[in-house]
Amino acid sequence: MHHFTYKDNELYCEAVTVREIAAAVGTPFYLYSHATLERHFKAFDGAFEGIDRLICYSAKANASQAILRLLKNLGSGLDIVSGGELYRGLKAGIAPQKIVYSGVGKRVEEIDDALSAGILMFNVESLEELELINQRAGTLGKKAPIAIRVNPDVDPKTHPYISTGLKKNKFGIDTRAALEGYLAANQMAHVNIIGIDCHIGSQITQVQPFVDALESLKSLIGELKQKNIDIKFLDMGGGLGITYNDEAPPHPQEYARTLVQALKDMPVRLILEPGRVIVGNAGILVTRALYRKTGGAKNFMIVDAGMNDLLRPTLYGAFHAIWPVSKNKYETIKADVVGPICETGDFLAQDREVPGVSHGDLLAVMSAGAYGFMMASNYCSRPRLAEVMVKDDQFEVIRARQNYEDLMIGETVPSFIE
Ligand SMILES: Cc1ncc(COP(=O)(O)O)c(C=O)c1O
Repeated sequence: MHHFTYKDNELYCEAVTVREIAAAVGTPFYLYSHATLERHFKAFDGAFEGIDRLICYSAKANASQAILRLLKNLGSGLDIVSGGELYRGLKAGIAPQKIVYSGVGKRVEEIDDALSAGILMFNVESLEELELINQRAGTLGKKAPIAIRVNPDVDPKTHPYISTGLKKNKFGIDTRAALEGYLAANQMAHVNIIGIDCHIGSQITQVQPFVDALESLKSLIGELKQKNIDIKFLDMGGGLGITYNDEAPPHPQEYARTLVQALKDMPVRLILEPGRVIVGNAGILVTRALYRKTGGAKNFMIVDAGMNDLLRPTLYGAFHAIWPVSKNKYETIKADVVGPICETGDFLAQDREVPGVSHGDLLAVMSAGAYGFMMASNYCSRPRLAEVMVKDDQFEVIRARQNYEDLMIGETVPSFIE
């Protein structure tokens, strides 16, 4: 459920027309609904009512300061995968004691920053990383709280690029080696074992893979207990899918019920790292039609947003619904909706029945709140687009559109070039 709806054939975000915002900020831009973000967080968190839990929103889905602050105000912690995300989270006011740190390639400086900040726990993804964390904690006179990210070899039945819990994936440590890792960690002077973690993938539309992963973690917790290693935090990662087209993912209530049932009163604090399910359908990308043309085999609708603004269709063949911002009497045409980038892979939709808008008309690319702006780049020297948030009948730019000068920040011509 989101707050992008038509009234009198005009697309509204809450109580503001998308057209009015486009006129004020130009295109393309990302547009987020405050009410939708709030609703999604509360629906997710509320589904675990009565359970000892911490929701650590996954910054990688969308780490704009406004969104982090809003979620922090609702009680969210943060799941981070880089020093940059740690910096952003702390700037947004998220308490370090609510931050968990995953990622296979944590650098020394990033580990040091997280230790100095006093985060809740490191989700350790290799034995070498474990050794380094122990060493850095010793150097800084700290004790590093850790969980091991277990790779439970569960098929999340999602796109191969976003499945992360299979043996062949680079993430986590397989269950057997994880046990060895815990035993090694238990001997280390500067780490404190507090948790266990997994994240099996993203855009998961069934509950069974989560249950399978949880079962695997539970049996490892049992083995650890026998070795007198006590697990206080069980981090199930993120991954719950959303509806982009016709997917029917489990409602957070069903997801929560299933997890809680599988936990069967285990004395652990549950951590969840939702990203997409919170922001995905709370944001759209607004773009303007530039030209139409008919190639030998296809119709093309060329718009002013490209793969540098929204990479998901190019990267994963992802589907995003495309709606007209004003529902005029457009004939429907079958076309590829493409951007201005000089790549054949630069498309937002392919072979899609879309409203046959003409030059200057606005289109909304739906469900673009997660992994949209975060993957935007300056490819083809295109300034990064603006982000706007609506609350009721107000809107504000939450990130200014870059200008051409911004494109060259940090660049210099060396003295040996005339
Ligand atoms: C470690 C980790 N946690 C949580 C997430 C969030 O996943 P999602 O947006 O599918 O909820 C991701 C994203 O892939 C991740 O890598």
